[in-house]
Amino acid sequence: MRRIIGSVGLGFGLLLASVAAASGQGSQALLPGDWGKVPPTTITLFYPAQATWQFLTSDGHPGAEPLKTGTSCADCHAGKQEEMGKSLVTHPKLEPDPIPGKRATVPLTVRAAFDAQYVYFQFQWDAPDPGATHTLWRYDGSKWVRAGGPKPDVLKKGAAPSYEDRVAVLIGDRDSLPAYDGAQVGFSQAGCFITCHNSMRAMPKEPTKDALKAHPYWGDAGKKRSDIRKYLLISRTGQDESGAWDKVKSPAELEQLRQAGRFLDLWQWRAARSNPLGYAGDDWVLDYRWFDKGKNTFTSPGEPKWMYDQAKMGFVAIPEARLREMRDKFPLIIGRNAVPLDPKAPFKAGDILPHPVLQEPSESVADVRAAGTWRDGRWTVELRRKLNTGNPDDKALAPGKVYDIGFAVFEDRVSNRRHHVTLPPVTFGLGVKADITAQRLP
Ligand code: HEC
Repeated sequence: MRRIIGSVGLGFGLLLASVAAASGQGSQALLPGDWGKVPPTTITLFYPAQATWQFLTSDGHPGAEPLKTGTSCADCHAGKQEEMGKSLVTHPKLEPDPIPGKRATVPLTVRAAFDAQYVYFQFQWDAPDPGATHTLWRYDGSKWVRAGGPKPDVLKKGAAPSYEDRVAVLIGDRDSLPAYDGAQVGFSQAGCFITCHNSMRAMPKEPTKDALKAHPYWGDAGKKRSDIRKYLLISRTGQDESGAWDKVKSPAELEQLRQAGRFLDLWQWRAARSNPLGYAGDDWVLDYRWFDKGKNTFTSPGEPKWMYDQAKMGFVAIPEARLREMRDKFPLIIGRNAVPLDPKAPFKAGDILPHPVLQEPSESVADVRAAGTWRDGRWTVELRRKLNTGNPDDKALAPGKVYDIGFAVFEDRVSNRRHHVTLPPVTFGLGVKADITAQRLP
């Protein structure tokens, strides 16, 4: 039998199907039409290693000066993704911690369409393994300990990587987002690279947890962040070699930028943490990569609080030796197949529970519906969002307009920077010609 991962083919598919039918939201095709009639565009995503904005604008990058005056990445590197990816997966300076056998590139096939209400995307890429599990709890015989995780970290501990696959979409208005205040280059030329800085997690100048804790904006007195994620330098009062992680503009200035629409919309489909519920995550990027408002599809409690419902699943936890074959049954969903963890349940050493627990999302973070299936070594992921959600943390999309867009794929059990990305610029037009043209549905 062919293996199918996704809400359609889960072990408790019947249960999900009835819930989906009851709520009128299917995990079946989201497009009210035939993707086969929408012409595909295949883009080569490449592995960027630690090619941060600080590197790209430094003396170490031969293109730095022209880049700063508005020459795009593609003006110099078009068609060289394979070469760049190959160089970067084991780059002596830009990849201090290579993943053995990392692919240089991932070809991503994209289709897009829209109607009066929605924009639709379909993504397809080869993934020998579906990456449909995520971080884990493991019972060691007396207590639960954190287990699993991404490559290359867990490989070093001799453990099996368990991280999920993802596809991300980053969208911005044309010519509205300079790389920093006063810059001649911006998202329209340099794409996601303007959001990528030395201070972010897994990057060369990550601040210490203590430095973050003590910072008035990021620390205990403020946003309570334990790391720095994607951001735009227009949210900073200056620049430095770390990417000015600590030089955040005032809350009033940030709010002004947000109200002026000076941010990026970011959708992140997650194979383990959003797909089983039929969603992609919805984030936005300005001073940080924030989740949109509302209840997210997943929480990751600091201790295991839930286990599988024996009556529905036939087990309370997954034996670690069977995790791979039982991956279809992995999602632990509150209100569907999860019950509060009973410490007296008959757990055995090596039992596995998912670290993230899924829940029905709400509000703006629930704007992007998704249907992803993995079949014969290939993911097919559909996304659907309202053209205009009316939410202040989203970019409204209008028929007849062109936007700047970027895509990333996380494959082969990786996290944070270990993705493959598009070479900027990539444009996206709704019914008008662009690199990716969304076709108007009848
Ligand atoms: C004016 C031309 C020019 C522009 C614009 C430019 N580059 Fe480069 N870049 C070069 C040259 C030349 C090199 C060195 C030769 C090479 O590796 O291709 C280089 C090297 C690199 C490298 C290192 C590759 C390696 O294997 O060592 C990366 C990564 C890179 N560029 C990414 C980018 C990105 C991303 C952008 C846009 C944000 C960009 N470049 C814009 C010309 C340019």
